[in-house]
Amino acid sequence: MDKMLVNGGLTLNGDVNVSGAKNSALPLIFSTLLAEGRHDLNNVPGLNDIDSAEGLMTSLGCTIKRDKAQMTIDVPAEVETLAHYDQVRKMRASILVLGPLLARFNKAKVSLPGGCAIGARPIGMHLDALEKMGAKIHVDAGYVVATTTGLKGAIIDLPFATVGGTENIMMAASLAEGTTTINNAAREPEISDLADYLTTMGVQVSGAGTSTIKITGQKELRAGSHQVIADRIEAGTLVVAGALSGGEVRVKNCRPDHLESFLQALGQMNVQIETTETEIHVKGCKNIKPISIVTEPYPGYPTDLQAQIMTLMTQADGVSHITEKVFENRFMHVSELLRMGAEIDIENKTATIVGKRNLLAAPVMATDLRASASLILAGLVAEGETEVNRIYHLDRGYEKLEDKLSGLGANIKRVKNKS
Ligand code: UD1
Repeated sequence: MDKMLVNGGLTLNGDVNVSGAKNSALPLIFSTLLAEGRHDLNNVPGLNDIDSAEGLMTSLGCTIKRDKAQMTIDVPAEVETLAHYDQVRKMRASILVLGPLLARFNKAKVSLPGGCAIGARPIGMHLDALEKMGAKIHVDAGYVVATTTGLKGAIIDLPFATVGGTENIMMAASLAEGTTTINNAAREPEISDLADYLTTMGVQVSGAGTSTIKITGQKELRAGSHQVIADRIEAGTLVVAGALSGGEVRVKNCRPDHLESFLQALGQMNVQIETTETEIHVKGCKNIKPISIVTEPYPGYPTDLQAQIMTLMTQADGVSHITEKVFENRFMHVSELLRMGAEIDIENKTATIVGKRNLLAAPVMATDLRASASLILAGLVAEGETEVNRIYHLDRGYEKLEDKLSGLGANIKRVKNKS
């Protein structure tokens, strides 16, 4: 297993480019199952999760070619409708093949997914919605088995604005008969990105980005091309890196409008930030102020940037609070930050972070994707050489983070495991 060595204390300066969004690219890749032909996706990040998606799509019979950030997917007239455990277990987002396969082929058998160990993360809302659209579903030996005589549009009232659930329903509705209305839909930018590509394929979609999405299904869809939006979570992580180090960092090729609640929180913490349409310029930060945040579905503060801002809070002058309302078990980075000298207390869903604490290098272990980022960030300010182990979590969702941070002046290197 590779590990990352970070020598802290350096000021970061310079420009850094943001890659395409993992959480957009994944549903987009799976959405191509809806239409036979050649799909072209641009700005696809080079990540382990994307490799997992490629493996899954290939196992279903699709042919994928990649040239840097360009991905071409050839979807045949008939594809395999069985998504094996071996392909699905690595990544929870694999469940997103269920909607398109069922809609196009009237059947699908998909292994229950794996992915980050941040809580139970059930998929009941996905399945309830598909049943309401006319699917018969049961779980057999770890597989979701779904059949239908033809999906029909329905009114879906989601109990929670689930991102993956909204995406699965949108894709299923794209080839269903009639109109599907999703109430309490997720409003994340990745939902709008998917809606844009569904529209390119010929689906009638309205309301993406709001809580009510309407999709009118078509008999057949056509393949097209699409540019994946920038990764707002990667952008936010790089902004925190700049803020922590007190330097001037220009985060380029991103969408500051997708990060409003995050940028607002950083502003309250006294981080000097300027934005253009596609850039976030961190202009330094001297006295970091403590704040309280609550993670919520978009446009609220993103849970995927919770661990990173916690590291910044360890450097604030005073006591900060984070209440995690999206996932029930997303404070696993805390015990590792404690090992580096942070003072953090957790009670129920709220973490209390006492700053300012001088962090000291220690061997730490990444436990999930965003937790790994928070430990790398902690390493950037810690005294000494921090060793972040199990960075395969990081590689799932950050494209060459060490190169991007090195480019800004950080002392960070990957140590390959020889075995
Ligand atoms: C997506 C993102 C992930 C992000 C999360 C919340 C992708 C590939 N992943 O994950 O990075 O952290 O949104 O912004 O886009 N839930 C249920 N039943 C369901 C579905 C969800 O109880 O059927 C619960 C989950 O357990 C969780 C919450 O709803 O507590 C949010 O989950 P959801 O929005 O579905 O997240 P994902 O789509 O898995």
